[in-house]
This record gives sequence, structure tokens and C-alpha cells, in this order.
Amino acid sequence: MTIKRIGLLTSGGDAPGMNAAIRAVVLSAHRYDIEILGFYSGYNGLINDHSNKLSLHDVDGIIHRGGTILKSARCPELLKEIGIKQAAQTLMKNKVYALVVIGGDGSFNGLIQLSKHWQGQVIGIPGTIDNDVDGTDLTIGFSTAINTAIDAIDKIRDTADAFERIFVVELMGQHSGHITFNVGIACAAEKVLSFENVDSTNEAKTLKECAKEIKQAQKDRHGSYLIVIAENLWTGGVTEFAKQLKNEAGIDCTPCILGYIQRGGSPVAKDRILATKMGVAAVQAIIADKSNVMIGEQNNAIVFVPLTDAIKHKKQVSQSLVAAQENILALTAQTQC
Ligand code: F6P
Repeated sequence: MTIKRIGLLTSGGDAPGMNAAIRAVVLSAHRYDIEILGFYSGYNGLINDHSNKLSLHDVDGIIHRGGTILKSARCPELLKEIGIKQAAQTLMKNKVYALVVIGGDGSFNGLIQLSKHWQGQVIGIPGTIDNDVDGTDLTIGFSTAINTAIDAIDKIRDTADAFERIFVVELMGQHSGHITFNVGIACAAEKVLSFENVDSTNEAKTLKECAKEIKQAQKDRHGSYLIVIAENLWTGGVTEFAKQLKNEAGIDCTPCILGYIQRGGSPVAKDRILATKMGVAAVQAIIADKSNVMIGEQNNAIVFVPLTDAIKHKKQVSQSLVAAQENILALTAQTQC
């Protein structure tokens, strides 16, 4: 076996636990006398040949830190052939045998394109707060992000309760509702609006239904009312949604965008452990001569998913989650009547 040097980078939106994965890759590679070359700022580090050898010292004391010590970026250059060729040249010049990329589906698409111009092994580790990558039950960062959002919304609920006020809180997720549904359930949101349960081609209908439900709830009981809404769902965003509720139904509603608070912070135990398992598995996969696979975890077991399968579809929010939210709201409405 001639593996001597693995390239490593983090790409796309940073996610809590990426550092834990970097640490795991470096430590487990060290066991096999493999050197890790960390490339900076996502694929830009490959295009600009910006890297550094990662020592054991470099990954000391990082498991609990959010963000990524390798920095991250979105890299449109990698969508062009010239960018891909430059990246491939850097890998060859640095005698890299395999490349591990921690990121989401966009980053894996980059990896697939790169592998058409470079012969080395390519391995993906799913790291994104959105949890929308197919082939793995969880992505690194998701558990922390939902805990952060829950913590923030619990605080908003205090004010909502004190003032008997209606809040609409926008959550991240790009175009999927994993964060919105999970957080909505955990915060006992009175309403969840996401891609999975809203017909986005008929906003007028959704607004009307929402207004009706809010008015009914206000009649049944005094108190707070919390709506969580997925980003990119409503035309004009959450501020526009609140404005329309006021204009169309006379309902005062305070909009709130949680935003990047969801991406940062110290990873929770679940993300540290998942990231460590996946980082170790990535090195094992390279040693076992695997390539073009993403490390996933399904039913608590590590699996190797072809990168092409991982990016084919966005992972869907589980129907049981959607059903739980709808049913619990139906029950709440019944008990209030
Ligand atoms: O990392 C994924 C994500 O957090 C999405 O939920 C969000 O839409 C997006 O990143 C925003 O990313 P940026 O503004 O950094 O490009």
C-alpha cells in the first residue's frame, strides 16, 4: 500500500462538528503513518494551492469548537472546467493520493466533477446543518443547530407568553424543512410552515388558513402563538408574511429571523460523536481502497453511499414527523374546544 498523503477540506456552510471530523481524520490517519494536508477555504484552497500539513498539535483542543479550523467557502470556480483542472493539478503537484471533503451535496457534486479529472480516491463526509443529504440519517451539525434554535425560541416564547403575542420565526434549511419541523415540534409551535406541508403556489390560501387558525386559538385561550417558517418558503420572507397577516387579517405578528446563530457554537455530544465516527470511517474507507463514496450513518451503523446517490435527491423530511406535528395540533385544537 502506497498511501502517504490525504488531502482534507471543509466546504459550503460551516457546521458545528466539522472540527471534530477534522480531528478524527488527522488522528486516525496518524495511526497509519498517513500525512494529512489541510486545504484552506473549501475548494479555493485547491484552486489556489493553499494548504498546510496538519499535525496532532493542530487538532488538539478543537473538538468542542464551532466553525472550521480549515475555513470554508462556496466556490463557483469549481463549476468551471478550468477551476476543476487547476484543483486537480494542485492535488497532483502535492502528491495527494486521496481527498476527503466535509460538506453538503453541493460540495459532493464538486468532488464528483473533480474525480473526472483526477485519479485519486475521493471520499465525502456529510457536514451541513440542513440535514438534507440523502443516504445518512443525520449530517454533522444538524443536532447542534436544532438545539441552538430550540434554545433561542424557548426564550422568544417567554416574551410571547408575557405579552400574549404572536411570533413568526424563520429557520434555516435552504430548501428543506428538517430544521423547521424538528424545531417546531420541540418548541411546541402552534404552526409549522414548510415545503413539506404548504402549497407554495397558493400563498393566499395558506395565509387565510393561518389567520383563521390564529383567530380561533385567540378565542379559545389567551396566550402566545408561535409560528415557525422555513427560509425561502414565503415570497419576500418572514417580514412580508407578517405584513400580509396584518394587512389581510388585521393580525399583529412579530417577525424574527434566527439566521446564522443556527450555524455556530460548540457542537453537542451527538455531533461530536457522529463526526468522530465518520472521520475515522473516511480513513478506513481510503485504506480499503474505496472511492467516490460518502460516509453515512444509517440505523446506527456506518455505511458507504455512492456520491452520485447521495446527491441525486434531497433527503425528505420523514412523514412520521410531519404527521406527528399535524396530529398533535389537531389534538390540541380538540382539547381546547
Ligand atoms: O449551510 C446551509 C445553510 O445554512 C442554509 O441553511 C442557508 O440557506 C445557507 O447555508 C446560507 O448560506 P450562506 O449565506 O453562507 O451562503
